[in-house]
Amino acid sequence: MPNGSDFVVVANRLPVDRVTGDDGRASWRRSPGGLVTAIAPLMRRRDGAWIGWSGAADEDLEPFEEDGMSLVPVPLSAEELELYYEGFSNATLWPLYHDVIAPPVYERPLWEAYVKVNKRFAEAAAAEAAQNAVVWVQDYQLQLVPAMLRELRPDLRIGFFLHIPFPPQELFEQLPWRRQIIAGLLGADLVGFQLPGAASNFLRLARRHLDARTHGPYVDVGDRVVRAQAFPISVDVGELTELTQRREVRWRSDEVKADLGDTKILLGVDRLDYTKGISQRLQAFGELLAEGELKPGEAVFVQIATPSRERIEQYQLLRDQIEQQVGRINGEHAELGAPVIHYLHSSYSREELAALYLAADVMVVTPLRDGMNLVAKEYVACREDLRGALVLSQFAGAADELKRAFQVNPYDIDGLKESMLAALRSSPAEQARRMRSMRKRVIEHDVDRWAQDFLTALEQTP
Ligand code: ADP
Ligand code: G6P
Repeated sequence: MPNGSDFVVVANRLPVDRVTGDDGRASWRRSPGGLVTAIAPLMRRRDGAWIGWSGAADEDLEPFEEDGMSLVPVPLSAEELELYYEGFSNATLWPLYHDVIAPPVYERPLWEAYVKVNKRFAEAAAAEAAQNAVVWVQDYQLQLVPAMLRELRPDLRIGFFLHIPFPPQELFEQLPWRRQIIAGLLGADLVGFQLPGAASNFLRLARRHLDARTHGPYVDVGDRVVRAQAFPISVDVGELTELTQRREVRWRSDEVKADLGDTKILLGVDRLDYTKGISQRLQAFGELLAEGELKPGEAVFVQIATPSRERIEQYQLLRDQIEQQVGRINGEHAELGAPVIHYLHSSYSREELAALYLAADVMVVTPLRDGMNLVAKEYVACREDLRGALVLSQFAGAADELKRAFQVNPYDIDGLKESMLAALRSSPAEQARRMRSMRKRVIEHDVDRWAQDFLTALEQTP
C-alpha cells in the first residue's frame, strides 16, 4: 500500500497550465475557469495532492510543487485531447448538461476515449492516496472515476462534486451511456451538486435506470449508501477583500475610469463560452443605443472574454459571432477614439479583475445556463463600498442565493434592456440596500464554508 497523501483532489486540469513561450521556454500560468478559482485557495491552505492534466498534449511530467500546492500531472495524448477533452467532455457532456444550447455530439469513439482516460485518472488517484485517505473527484470530465477508484481502493472515502448543472431526466436520457455515468457517480460516498434540483434529478435517474432504492438524499447500492446533496460553491472572500484594499488595485481602478471618461461602465467577464449569454447582453446594449435610451458617451460596455476550448467548432462559431456583433455595434454608435464596446479577448490577473470590478457601475452576468457563476459572487465580494449593481440571469445557480440582484431571463431581450437601465439608474441608496443583502450571503457562505460543509458531510456519510 502506498504511503501517499491523506487528501487528494482529482480534476481534469491542474490549477496551472504549461505554456511554451516564443523563446521555447516552458512556464506555468493559472488555468482558466471557476473550478480552479474555487479549489486552488483550499489546496494552498491544506496538505494534499492535486492530480490533473498539465494543459499541454503528450507531456509526461514528474510531480512538482507550484504556488504552495503539490501537483501530480496525468499525461494526455493529442488524440485523447481530441476525443476525451474536446470530444466527450466538451462536445457531448457540456452542451447536454447546459440545456442542449448547442447540439451534443454522440459518437462511440469519444465515449471509448472518455472511459480510457477516466481509468488513467482513477489509477493515478489509487497510486497517490494513502490508506483510508479522502479523495475528492471534480466535475463532468471524470464521472466514471468514483466507481473505478472504489474498485481499485475500497478503503478510500470518495467524494464527487459536479461544478456544472445536472440536467433533468428528459435531457439526460438522450445520452446513450446514461447508465454507465450514473453507475460511475454512485461509486462515490457523497455526490455533490450546485443546486437541490440537480440532486433530485440525479436521485430520480438512479431509481429509474439502476433500479436503485432511495430514501431522502440516500441511494442504496447494496452494501453501501451514497448520499446526493447540494453544496453551492462560492468564492474566497478573504482573498478578494485583500485585493480590493491594495493601493495599486484602487489606483488601477481609478485609472480605468479616467481612461474611459466621464461615463457609466457596464462590465462582462466570462470565458468565451456559448452558455454565457454574451451575445444577448450585447444585443440588449446595442438596442438601447439604437433607440436613444442610452446616448453614446453616457455608458460603455467592457466585455472581457477569456479564450476557451478554441479548437471546438461551436466555440469558433461563437467567437466569430461575438466579434462581428461588437464590430457592428461599434460601427453604428462609436465616435472617433470612443468605442461603445471595449472587447478584450484575453485572460487577466486577479488584480486587474478586482480593479475592473471596482470600476464597474453595472456587472452584467447573463448565462443561458450556468452551474453557479463565480463572477457574480466575485463582484459582490469586491464591493465593500456597497456601490454598483448586479444584473444576473435567473438561469445561473448564483441566482438562488443572490436574490437582490436585478434578475433577468437572458432570452428576453426587452426584459434585459429594462434591467440594464434600471441597474444603471439605481440610486446609491438602492444599490447599498441590494449589495448589503447579497454581501451578507456571500460572506457567510464563502468557499471555505463550502469545502468544510462538503468534507464534513463526506466524513459523516455512513
Ligand atoms: P466558468 O467556470 O464557467 O468559467 P465562473 O464564472 O464560475 O465560470 O468562473 C470563472 C472564473 O474565471 C472566475 O473566477 C473569473 O474571475 C475567472 N475569469 C473569467 N474571465 C477571466 C479573464 N478574462 N481573465 C482572468 N480570469 C477570468
Ligand atoms: C468550467 C468547468 C471546469 C473547467 C473550466 C474551464 O469551470 O466546470 O471543469 O475546468 O470551465 O474549462 P477548460 O475546458 O478550459 O478546463
